[in-house]
Amino acid sequence: QTPVAAPKKSRNFVEVMQQQSRRVIVFYGSQTGTAEDYASRIAKECTQKYNVNAMTADLEEYDMEHLDELPTDKLAIFVLATYGEGEPTDNAVPFWDFINQEETPQFSQADSAEDLSQPLKNLRYIGFGLGNKTYEHFNEAIRVVDKKLTAFGATRIGECGEGDDDGSLEEDFMAWQEAMWPAFCEVMEVSETAIGEAERTATYHTQEIEFVSETDLYLGELGDKTQSNYDAKKPFPALIQSRDLFTSSDRHCLHLDIDITGSGLRYLTGDHIAIWPTNSETEVSRLVKAIGLIDKLDVAVKVEAIDPAAPKKYPFPVPTTYRSIFRHYLDIATPPPRPVLGAIAQYATSEATKSKLESLASDKDLYKSEVVESCKNLGEVLESIDSTPGAFADVPFDLIVESLSRLQPRYYSISSSSLESPNTITVTAVTLKYTPESTPDRTVYGVATNYLWAMHQAAHPEIQNVESGPEYYTKGPRDTYLNQDGVKVPVHVRKSNFKLPRNPSVPVILVGPGTGVAPHRAFVRERAFQKRNGKDVGKTLLFFGCRRSDEDYLYKDEWPELFDTLGGESRIINAFSRETDKKVYVQDRLRENGSEVWDMLDKQHAYIYVCGDAKRMAKDVQTAFIEFAQQFGGKSTEEAEQYVKDLRSKGRYQEDVWA
Ligand code: FAD
Ligand code: 2AM
Repeated sequence: QTPVAAPKKSRNFVEVMQQQSRRVIVFYGSQTGTAEDYASRIAKECTQKYNVNAMTADLEEYDMEHLDELPTDKLAIFVLATYGEGEPTDNAVPFWDFINQEETPQFSQADSAEDLSQPLKNLRYIGFGLGNKTYEHFNEAIRVVDKKLTAFGATRIGECGEGDDDGSLEEDFMAWQEAMWPAFCEVMEVSETAIGEAERTATYHTQEIEFVSETDLYLGELGDKTQSNYDAKKPFPALIQSRDLFTSSDRHCLHLDIDITGSGLRYLTGDHIAIWPTNSETEVSRLVKAIGLIDKLDVAVKVEAIDPAAPKKYPFPVPTTYRSIFRHYLDIATPPPRPVLGAIAQYATSEATKSKLESLASDKDLYKSEVVESCKNLGEVLESIDSTPGAFADVPFDLIVESLSRLQPRYYSISSSSLESPNTITVTAVTLKYTPESTPDRTVYGVATNYLWAMHQAAHPEIQNVESGPEYYTKGPRDTYLNQDGVKVPVHVRKSNFKLPRNPSVPVILVGPGTGVAPHRAFVRERAFQKRNGKDVGKTLLFFGCRRSDEDYLYKDEWPELFDTLGGESRIINAFSRETDKKVYVQDRLRENGSEVWDMLDKQHAYIYVCGDAKRMAKDVQTAFIEFAQQFGGKSTEEAEQYVKDLRSKGRYQEDVWA
């Protein structure tokens, strides 16, 4: 079979659909790859199950003013993730800006249209949103897009689905599809075809290559080797120096100094940096052992899309090796979705194995307890069903590639000031290790932070007495490795709206327990730098929380000098949660200083910045501010809530929080 992926030359998707005889286009707005995966799954199902030719489309790659040209026998599906504070994903920003203009956007046929108020009257669409209920603006992206499309005259088919990553996104997606497909069939005038699972058509074709020059092989490099500039698609292999900020032997918080000299990357204080991790060798071995690839790890391969509906021609840089694919390019750590287990079951070598996999795929509760709650990855699920090496060797490699997402970067709030340190970005990252409640004997290790910890250990052989975690690959001839200069890790910068007031004399209230202090360190350093350079810098109050003053008090040695420089009433106010019988949190310390904080807000027009845990802390802190408006401002509950809302809309209450 000759690989033929969809050429995407034109930015006019209606033209592309016509050329390729597509009836459905699945647009995705994706930040971490999940919406993209869902879009592919929908497109594949359209084609395979309903015989309706579909394509996926990265919103950034097409001009959306052509939406009014889509004829009524075709359908657009929008799969949109919401990112941060109700924001669209990076790749959806141009579309977002286009449809959210104050005036009706200029669609391509506007000149000939009879009814300018209903430019999208021919458009039929379906929508699914990916969000997280922890955040205030749950699924804002799909909600806004849905409202706009309807307002411009488009017809929505069925209900817009809304997935909640704080619950189970996957289950929400599956439940939504139960009603979506019948509605789809009705409007597209089709019915389910008789193609069964066994006759699945492959999305990718894998070719093993005997001779390939060393320089052509991708062994962990990201992006195109021939591209000379660095960006999100081609992260920069940056030299990193690290140190541990905690004193405990089982919890670690790494301070990373990331050198971006010569990369062309720029950042501003308050931005985020993306760090591209490597999978642990422990998990790579587990999975390749199960699928019978352990003896072929260094074979060179080329993997290419043969299904024109595939989102990308190459799922990762090729030619590469099986080892690099599992080590660097595929997400092997996330629990596999139910349909993946169902697809793998078709290739089981025994009836018993097949039936176990099928039960997991079809029984929601069993899947929840055995896979989700115990946080098992694909290798662990397969191993728990049959631990014989090669027990799943009949599973086609292309099915594994299709089933696993691309390994994604992790974002970190930059903890350095770009004024003070333009070429070195610092990160403050706590290593993640947890025991799932349902399986107290298992420890799960976060991919990126334990990779960084392994790199740190490799660079500091003097570190002793650390309990053993997963093994990581830390050496090698390529981009991501330890060499005589230190450790190199791929990074790129992401802009954020979390920004200090332009005028440094405006007072600020910074609230950030744990690693939530990261951007506040950047802010405090920036203001101290400005002060040293003769600027009039306003009062800076930092509320920082941690467990104990002698264990996890981040940057304990830095604060005295910085606050001395800032002078006046600027200071750090600590909440040590585990030093007394009663838990003391940042919001408790805020309340103790309530009247001063209110004075700063109300009289001195201070800005508030909250960073760290989105789930509880950010909400508890907001409650404290609402209370201040009631207690000191004499406002009713509604007025106080509105007061904080207004602060937010004026940019005076900014959050940089993560779930
Ligand atoms: P992963 O392998 O990605 O595992 C994380 C996943 O494990 C979670 O998504 C969750 O599904 C699961 N999980 C975690 N705990 C549990 C539990 N107890 N029970 C069950 N499942 C669990 N981190 C910092 O340390 N410092 C920062 O400055 C920082 N800034 C951030 C800024 C932004 C904008 C965002 C989005 C995140 C930020 N993070 C920060 C978090 C960071 O991006 C990573 O999520 C974190 O370091 C863990 O990555 P990992 O690869 O080690 O873990
Ligand atoms: P704890 O772990 O002792 O409960 C950094 O993680 C700090 O944030 C720790 O001191 C932690 O306390 C504290 N913390 C936990 N939950 C919090 C919440 N809801 N609000 C504010 N701080 C919290």
